[in-house]
Order: sequence, then structure tokens, then C-alpha cells
Amino acid sequence: MSLPLLEPILTGPRVVPVLVLDDPAEAVPLARALVAGGLTALEVTLRTPAAFACAEAIAAKVPEAIVGLGTLIRPEQFARARDAGARFVVSPGLTDRLAEAAKMAGIPYLPGIATVTEALIAWEHGFRELKFFPAMLNGGAPALKGMAPLIPEVRFCPTGGLRAEHVGEILSLPNVFALGGTWLTPAEAVKARRWDEIERLAREAAALAAGG
Ligand code: 3PG
Repeated sequence: MSLPLLEPILTGPRVVPVLVLDDPAEAVPLARALVAGGLTALEVTLRTPAAFACAEAIAAKVPEAIVGLGTLIRPEQFARARDAGARFVVSPGLTDRLAEAAKMAGIPYLPGIATVTEALIAWEHGFRELKFFPAMLNGGAPALKGMAPLIPEVRFCPTGGLRAEHVGEILSLPNVFALGGTWLTPAEAVKARRWDEIERLAREAAALAAGG
């Protein structure tokens, strides 16, 4: 049985802002700014108590956004994420219990891997889209290039340490279908509600993803 994939539902540029959100009231204008800048796939991380509520608010109020939930580390979070409106889910790593919960949830899942062995374990579980994390610490583009001939069926979404200057090179790799990062939403800009700055960062990333 093949598992659902994220790539087919990614309609916009293949850059996924990774969001750390404290307040549903700031989540919605932030998501609108990113969408206005051209980025529609957004990952809300479960690193704050308000994360589920923030994802729910974005899913309800920003219909253009394809909202996902990330940093899932417990099996029970998968069904809850789907019920909150998440269209995809992401983990920093992979365990047997997480793999099982992801399959039950029935939405695209990117398990995190950092080595070839971990990628093989995820592949054996049936996953074909993996998060390469933390990407820059683990070799960045050259490491991804090295994995392509070894595990040709698998495609990656690297995150961790990526910035605008990495977008062109990383997205040009044939085994990369998207990339993500927090550089698009600097904490200070979010706190000060500088949505025009966030929109500008999104627009810049979207242009870089389009080869501009
Ligand atoms: C993630 O969860 O994907 C990373 O924390 C993003 O890493 P960054 O903050 O270096 O972009």
C-alpha cells in the first residue's frame, strides 16, 4: 500500500515556512502575509502550547494555506493534528510507534532522518518523502547529492540551518521536492507584527524557488 504524499498537494513554490507560534491572533495575519508573498504550504511546529490552536485558526481562516503540523514526537499527536486541519505532518525523527500513528492518520507524513541508515529505515516503513534534518549540520546539498544514487525512490525536504541563499542550489537537486526553515519568520518581526517584512521575505523566497 502506498502512503499519501505531500508533493502532489503542493501548489505553490516549494519553500515551506516553519512557524513557532504563541498566539492564534498572530498566527492568522502571519499566515496571510506568507500567502500574500506567494508561500502557501506552512508548517506550524508543536513547540509552543498554542500550536494546535494556531494551526486550527490558520486552517479555518486562511483557506489558501496548506497548513501542516511539525515537531510531532508522540503517537497521539497525529490524529489530533489531522483533526485540527493539518494537511501534512512532520517529525524531527522516526520511531516504530510514530510510523504506525502516521499510517493510521492517513495524511502525508515526513519523518526526519539524518543518516543513510535512518533513511533506509524510513523507506522500509514505506515512507518516500523524508525530512532531512538538521540539513546543514549533516552536510547540506553534498549530503543530499550523495544519497540520491543510494536510495533513488526517496525524495527529501531538508530543513535546519537553511536560509534564502541556499534555496536555488538545494531545490535544484533531483531528490529534493521542497525545503523549509524559520528564516522567513524572524521572531522579532512576528512579535512586532511587521507583516510587510514577512511578506517581503516570502516573496523573495518564492522568487528564488522559481529560479529568480
Ligand atoms: C525545523 O524544525 O525544521 C527546523 O527547526 C528549522 O530549522 P531552522 O530554524 O534552522 O530554519
